[in-house]
Amino acid sequence: MSSTNGTNGTNGTNGSQAGNRFLIWGGEGWVAGHLKQILESQGKHVAATTVRMQDREKVLEVLEREKPTHVLNAAGCTGRPNVDWCEDHKEETMRSNAIGTLNLTDCCFLKGIHCTVYATGCIYEYDDKHPWDGPGFTETDPANFKGSFYSYTKGHVEEIMKNYDNCLILRLRMPVSDDLHSRNFVTKIAKYDRVVDIPNSNTILHDLLPASILLAEHKDTGVYNFTNPGAISHNEVLTLFRDIVRPGYSWKNFSLEEQAKVIKAGRSNCKLDTDKLINKLKEYNYEVPEVHEAYRQCFERMKAAGVQ
Ligand SMILES: NC(=O)c1ccc[n+]([C@@H]2O[C@H](COP(=O)([O-])OP(=O)(O)OC[C@H]3O[C@@H](n4cnc5c(N)ncnc54)[C@H](OP(=O)(O)O)[C@@H]3O)[C@@H](O)[C@H]2O)c1
Repeated sequence: MSSTNGTNGTNGTNGSQAGNRFLIWGGEGWVAGHLKQILESQGKHVAATTVRMQDREKVLEVLEREKPTHVLNAAGCTGRPNVDWCEDHKEETMRSNAIGTLNLTDCCFLKGIHCTVYATGCIYEYDDKHPWDGPGFTETDPANFKGSFYSYTKGHVEEIMKNYDNCLILRLRMPVSDDLHSRNFVTKIAKYDRVVDIPNSNTILHDLLPASILLAEHKDTGVYNFTNPGAISHNEVLTLFRDIVRPGYSWKNFSLEEQAKVIKAGRSNCKLDTDKLINKLKEYNYEVPEVHEAYRQCFERMKAAGVQ
């Protein structure tokens, strides 16, 4: 398999002779890199681009040149070092997460291209109807988390974008990779001085990213909560991490009130209902493990690979 760097922000890898042509947006991003690796390992035709989503002329130009059957949109303004950045850069955040995301989806629609958006489930927070030990939020529940501008842009754009009939919206939460990349949720919480301890839905990329390709290939559309089933608390994650990956590791907890003093934007805590996703994937004989089991498997893979 060969990989070539293009001259205009696009690089491509030719795989199988099958008719599908995948084009990944946000080509230098973390999730994008994982997607590219999976598609290449499956021998599929894949290219990636870093063209800004809001640049309509360039977007149309890339679509015309690459002629993808499927766009995988893993681009988004996520803030560095974290989403607190978005609180102070609202225009840039809107330009990417609202204008850009919509523009790319619209351009794909005009060209008859299926568009998968790697969106976020961090648009909810536990409430009276959805306590941590009660029912999860479904795809039709309106966003109720107003604590961060990042989530605000993501929640709003989803409301509009879901009306495009070429669009598949996958809501990831606290994604976890099999390494200790800095964007991995586990890496983040393992480095904090203190962590809260709240059950949350998480996306183990090893389990979910191949499923996203399957859904795209079947040209599924609409909104899906895109996490492993169930919810797992920070302490449960770190206990498994200590027991399997890093013996002797210890951590300290603090309360939500104490956390609020050291962050600018609020952080969403919620459990998502995954019935719609799990039932859809059953049609393709694809199973996603419950989140505690998924973490155990993930940490066993890390251990086997010598990650510490
Ligand atoms: N990681 C998480 O915790 C998480 C959780 C839930 C959902 N998501 C969503 O999943 C997607 C991928 O996340 P990630 O973790 O891979 O983020 P990432 O590593 O920050 O990658 C995002 C990529 O998008 C690019 N980008 C930003 N604005 C763009 C624009 N207007 N046009 C084109 N490219 C643009 C960035 O390029 P530049 O650096 O050049 O701007 C970056 O390479 C994002 O939409 C994110 O919101 C992430």
